[in-house]
Amino acid sequence: MSIRPVETIAALRQRLEEARRGAARIGFVPTMGALHHGHGQLIALARSKCDRVVVSIFVNPLQFDRVDDLAQYPRTLADDLALCESLGVDDVFLPAASEMYPSPPRCTVEVAELGDHLCGRYRPGHFRGVATVVLKLFEIVRPDIAYFGEKDAQQLAIVRRLVTDFNLPVAIVGVPTVREPDGLATSSRNRRLDPCERKLAITLFRALSAAADAIRAGETDAAEVKRRAMATVPPSPDGYGAASPAGPALRIEYLEVVNSDTMQPVVQIDGTVVVAGALWVGSTRLIDNIRCEPPSLSWRAPRA
Ligand code: PAJ
Repeated sequence: MSIRPVETIAALRQRLEEARRGAARIGFVPTMGALHHGHGQLIALARSKCDRVVVSIFVNPLQFDRVDDLAQYPRTLADDLALCESLGVDDVFLPAASEMYPSPPRCTVEVAELGDHLCGRYRPGHFRGVATVVLKLFEIVRPDIAYFGEKDAQQLAIVRRLVTDFNLPVAIVGVPTVREPDGLATSSRNRRLDPCERKLAITLFRALSAAADAIRAGETDAAEVKRRAMATVPPSPDGYGAASPAGPALRIEYLEVVNSDTMQPVVQIDGTVVVAGALWVGSTRLIDNIRCEPPSLSWRAPRA
């Protein structure tokens, strides 16, 4: 393998400075590694649009609200580098935590409102950690274009707002969610599912799809949409959302209909919304979302 990751900020800056002098357009894909097809899609898009493609692999401790989740986060560096190489990545930035945070940061980015609901409500400090590391990475890489997945819709909305509020000179491109054949969104955390959990994991996409179908069919009451989505969720084997001999625990943490820009819950659906949810399967937490609009918006008058 010929791709050699860059481990220091100084070395990466030097490399990219040279590229910038040659007027290269720099595309950036920030990741936490354990790369899969979803990441691959972001990288391939960057490769097709930019002269220089930078991928960062950094499991950012600042955005983990649970120590065990950070410890168990999958790490597959050799495979990650092979994938980057096969997709034609120019630079892999692989900093140690001590390089990114030589001392505990005293400056962090607080995200008001956008981070109040969905994951923000259940993962205290998570989006502060995301916004802080993304701002740092943007400062280090200074990309022209950065690619983020719609799979993490709230994160994408927050990054867009970060760029607006701090006047960052980077274009943000959102990339549609890549899914497995049965609809499950590809995720680094899917690797932690055993075969039985993997089967149950589709529950979330099924519930979100039921919600999206209801909205597209004209249901405007968000509570009714949620009710229809939750009606598709099988009861946990023990009935309480805990593991039992009958199978792993299955628990919807949240399922909400929110405004697609502000990420605030809506009561009446009269514009583009995101139906987003989080599901616990055993000890693994999965998230997913579907963006959709009511028929009044998607309907277009036929051309004469
Ligand atoms: P990570 O979970 O590794 O995801 C990196 C990027 O890949 C994110 O923009 C995410 O939305 C995108 N992605 C993940 N699964 C996807 C899928 N199935 N389809 C399309 N895109 C997908 O998100 C993070 O890392 C971190 O929070 C990070 C932004 C790197 C900051 O630490």
